[in-house]
Amino acid sequence: PISAFLFDLDGVIVDTAVFHYQAWRRMANELGFDISHEFNETLKGVSRMDSLDLILAHGGVTLTDERKLELATQKNDWYLELVSRMTPNDILPGVAGFFHQLKHAQPPLKTALGSVSKNARLILERIHMVDQFDAIIDGTKITRGKPDPEVFLNGAAELGVAPADCVVFEDAVAGVEAAKRAGMFAVGIGSPDVLTEADLVVPSLEHLTVTELLAAVERAQG
Ligand code: G6P
Ligand code: MG
Repeated sequence: PISAFLFDLDGVIVDTAVFHYQAWRRMANELGFDISHEFNETLKGVSRMDSLDLILAHGGVTLTDERKLELATQKNDWYLELVSRMTPNDILPGVAGFFHQLKHAQPPLKTALGSVSKNARLILERIHMVDQFDAIIDGTKITRGKPDPEVFLNGAAELGVAPADCVVFEDAVAGVEAAKRAGMFAVGIGSPDVLTEADLVVPSLEHLTVTELLAAVERAQG
């Protein structure tokens, strides 16, 4: 039976996906090109350096490793400027209610954060949600970003739960792929046209109850 929920952070718990896009866009503009909203979908869930490589290839720019490190640091500084203004008010609609429900679920559900971001803990601190998770897997604990399943498999292992008994919540194409490769049920947060591989897609956690979700998993797993 399902016994753990694994949550992505950026775009699921908070809308930092927008901050990442703003910061990367600012960097791209300084290099003389732009990145579209559509292209940005391919960056979600992808690690900082992998994102930079994708963006530079997109703009047809080749740089030394040293310069790349400078740019990644600059982007992160811009990003952290936006993060520093975050408060618990930035928690996305439906998240608090959903956590309230899952904390009261019977049989009980464990929770983990599964984010590739090295800033994940800092963000959880800013929104006062550190204590909501039984395990926190972030960019400092993994070697491979999504779509590699490492982050979610580590989460399941730290919780002591079998991957097949985990549900993942993801806004990213790469994140849904990571969840499926980990052998987990994937709930997409966003549009079904984008998150085509997800087992279930909702526009936000406002549109889902824990009871409904567990019933949907049961139906899917027969
Ligand atoms: C998340 C975001 C990505 C971001 C990555 C690394 O997966 O969806 O857009 O690139 O984390 O974040 P970081 O905060 O370490 O740069
Ligand atoms: Mg995300």
